[in-house]
Amino acid sequence: MITDAQRAELIRKALSMREYSYVPYSNYAVGAAVLTEEGTVYGGCNIENSSFGATNCAERTAIFKAVSDGHRRLSAVAVCGAPVGEEPSDYAWPCGICRQVMSEFGSADLPVIVALSETAYQEFPLSELLSHSFSADSMKSAES
Ligand code: THU
Repeated sequence: MITDAQRAELIRKALSMREYSYVPYSNYAVGAAVLTEEGTVYGGCNIENSSFGATNCAERTAIFKAVSDGHRRLSAVAVCGAPVGEEPSDYAWPCGICRQVMSEFGSADLPVIVALSETAYQEFPLSELLSHSFSADSMKSAES
């Protein structure tokens, strides 16, 4: 569970991070923010590359910033996106790779917020966005 104030802060951060998106190929700016279990907030933007596969999504930028600062457990994620220069008018759903990365550092009930603004958003537990997911448990032997 997160508070209304925490959700509003995450959405504001995600919206503001779009300013830093490096998107010369898609012109689609995504911002994300994560709240760590320690209560810190990290923002991220999408960072594209001329070799398209090297592009990093906003969610993973934010998560990797948190993890590389020592915060391995997430309490919430927010994401928003729109073409550069426009306000979000459609929800920017996290891609499959980002959902998988969220599952590495968040629990099944991790709140994932997709937002147009502080007041227009949808929120789902990660398990609804990534069902029957692969995890460390998947690799455990039945005998151990
Ligand atoms: N993108 C994200 O940042 N997050 C997602 O979950 C989906 C897609 C970015 C990657 C690329 O820069 C642009 O959106 C178009 O795919």
